[in-house]
Amino acid sequence: MATSIDVFAKIASNERMAQLRAAREAGVLPYFREVQSPAMPVVEMEGQPRIMLGSNNYLGLTGDERVMQGARDALARYGTGLTGSRLLNGTTALHLELEAELAEWMGTEAAIVFTTGHQANLATIGTLLGPGDTVVADAGDHASLLDGALQSRAKLRAFRHNRPDKLEVALQKAARDGSGVLVVVDGVFSMEGDVAPLWEIAELCARYGARLMVDEAHAVGVLGERGAGTAELLGVEDRVDLRMGTFSKSLASCGGFVAGDSDVVEFLRIQSRAFLFTASGVPAAVGAALAALRVIRSPEGRDLLARVLANARRLNLGLHELGFSVVDPSAVTGASGARETVITPIVPVRVGEDWKCVLLWRALYDAGVFTNVALHPAVPLDGALLRTSVMATHDDAILDRALEVFATVKREFELEHGPLPGPGE
Ligand SMILES: Cc1ncc(COP(=O)(O)O)c(C=O)c1O
Repeated sequence: MATSIDVFAKIASNERMAQLRAAREAGVLPYFREVQSPAMPVVEMEGQPRIMLGSNNYLGLTGDERVMQGARDALARYGTGLTGSRLLNGTTALHLELEAELAEWMGTEAAIVFTTGHQANLATIGTLLGPGDTVVADAGDHASLLDGALQSRAKLRAFRHNRPDKLEVALQKAARDGSGVLVVVDGVFSMEGDVAPLWEIAELCARYGARLMVDEAHAVGVLGERGAGTAELLGVEDRVDLRMGTFSKSLASCGGFVAGDSDVVEFLRIQSRAFLFTASGVPAAVGAALAALRVIRSPEGRDLLARVLANARRLNLGLHELGFSVVDPSAVTGASGARETVITPIVPVRVGEDWKCVLLWRALYDAGVFTNVALHPAVPLDGALLRTSVMATHDDAILDRALEVFATVKREFELEHGPLPGPGE
C-alpha cells in the first residue's frame, strides 16, 4: 500500500516560506543579497558600494596578501580538493601543522581540525555524549551546539541566557539524571555579542563535576592578549575542558577546530561521524587559516586585535549618541576576580518588531550601509536586532560615514514609521 502523505506537502503551508515570498516581493528581504567583491570594509553589493557592517571578518584578514598567498601555495601544492575524509586520503602536512599551532595557541595538549565549525560542534557533542548523559546549554547557544546535543541523544537541559544561578539549578537536576554532564556555552554570543560569565560557569562545573566546553567562534582572534578567546581573557583557560573555534571569522577562511586533552582529541579522530564521514577542507582553506593564524600570533596580530575592539567602541558609542538602543558591553568577572566590561566586535542595535527591523535594514542598505538582521528564533520574540559588526580594517573615516548614514536614516525613518527604541530601552 502506498503512503497517502507527501513529505513535501508541508512546504506549501510553511509560515517561513510565506514570509520569504512576501519579503522578496516587497523588495525588503535582508538575506541572500549578492556580494560582488571581497569582504572588505566597503564592498560591492548589487551594483553599489556599501559600507560592510555585517561581516565576521573581524581582523580583515580575508584580503591580507599573506593569507591569500597561504591559500595560493596550498592550492598549487595540493590542488583544488582532497576528495576524501581526513581518515583516508584527506590529511596533509598543512592540517597537521595547523593542528599543532592551534594547540600551541590555545595552550592545550592537542587540537583537531574539521571541515566547518558546525561539524566541530556536531562531532564533539554528538560523540562524547550518549543516551543517558546530559547536555546543559545556555538558551542562547549557537544552533550547532544544539545539533550536537540532538545527535548525541543525551538529555538537553537549557538554562536562562547568561544566568549562573539558573545554570546551578540545571546542574542540580542534571546530577539527578545520573550520568555524565557536559556544560556548553558560547564564549561570545553570536547575535548580541555578549560574553559568557565563564569564571562563574567554570566554578559551578567544578563544584558539580561537569565538563565544560566553550564555543569560541566569535572570540578566537578577537579576545585576550594572544587572541585565544574568552577563556584566555577571563583567566579560566585551565578550567575549560574543550575549546572550539571556527576559521570562518577572524581566521579568514572556512573550517573549525576543537582543542583539549590529547586523549579526547584522539577519540574524536577515530569516533566522530562528522569528522570521519565528510571530505577534508579544501587545501586553500587550510592554507589560508594557517597563514591567518600566524599573522594573529605575530606582533602585528596584537595591533589588529586592539584595532577591532577600538572600532567596536567607536561604533557602539556613536550609535548610542545618535539615540539608538545599543546593546551595552558585558560586565563579567575578569581574570583578576574583579568585574570588567568587555567589548566585542558585535554591536547590536535593538529594534523590537520584525517589520520595523527589516524596513530599517532596507533604508540603511539603500543609503549604502550593509548590516545583518536577526529575527526570532535567532533572538527572543519581539527582540529583533540589527546586528552590526566591525573589522580591524575599518578606518575612522568609514565608521564616521556609516554613523552619518545611521543619523540621516533614523530621522527619516522615525518621521514615517514612529520612534525607534532609544538608549536603555
Ligand atoms: C557561535 C558559533 N558557533 C559555531 C559556528 C559554526 O561555524 P562555521 O561557520 O565554521 O560552521 C558559528 C558560525 O557560523 C557560530 O557563530
